[in-house]
Amino acid sequence: MSKLRIAVQKSGRLNEDSMKILKAIGISIDNGKDQLKASARNFPVEVFYLRNGDIPQYLRDGVVDAAIIGENVLIEKGQDLKFVERLGFSKCKVSIAVPKDSKDTSLKDLNGKRIATSYPETVKKFLKAQGIDAKLHIINGSVEIAPSIGLADGICDIVSSGSTLFKNGLKEIEVLLKSEAVLAVSPILDEERQAILSKIQFRIQSVLKGRQ
Ligand code: PRP
Ligand code: MG
Repeated sequence: MSKLRIAVQKSGRLNEDSMKILKAIGISIDNGKDQLKASARNFPVEVFYLRNGDIPQYLRDGVVDAAIIGENVLIEKGQDLKFVERLGFSKCKVSIAVPKDSKDTSLKDLNGKRIATSYPETVKKFLKAQGIDAKLHIINGSVEIAPSIGLADGICDIVSSGSTLFKNGLKEIEVLLKSEAVLAVSPILDEERQAILSKIQFRIQSVLKGRQ
């Protein structure tokens, strides 16, 4: 019998809540943390622990059938992919921020300037739509440090509690999008796996209703 292959974030902010929702819908996984793949004990499901940014390609290729992933990652790397449920956790924004003492106070002030980000596609699209031309500096993490080391005039990154912005002396000047965890699906899904997915969706909907 087929198993539904579900990707979750290996480590990071989504991981814990992703495992919690799987548990809440009755899928229990014996999870040796170093294992990159684990089978559920009581349901035809396999969980793959992957890097966030790699998940869209795995979905596209049909290497995994579904994924619990931030909508922001789909917007950045998986515009072609669909999600079937909003999961109501890991809510965040993707925002542009500048040093709090900067003379730049709005997006148009960043015209011709440098923005550091891990979300180049999202930023490019947004700036283009707003008619702003800025130079992007792509970094994978600790983006908020970029202005203080002279690498950029502003940054674009995830804002959740706002504490990273605050600690790095930055102020938010523009919100590009709001995001939460979603259940994304592969475009290549056979009937048997689709049936397992439907069951899972049904259970998720009941759990989310209960949380309201
Ligand atoms: C993420 C994100 C922001 C921060 C936002 O970084 O890139 O920097 O969290 O959360 P906050 O508003 O609650 O402070 P993370 O700590 O995951 O590390 P990374 O940037 O090195 O990936
Ligand atoms: Mg960060």
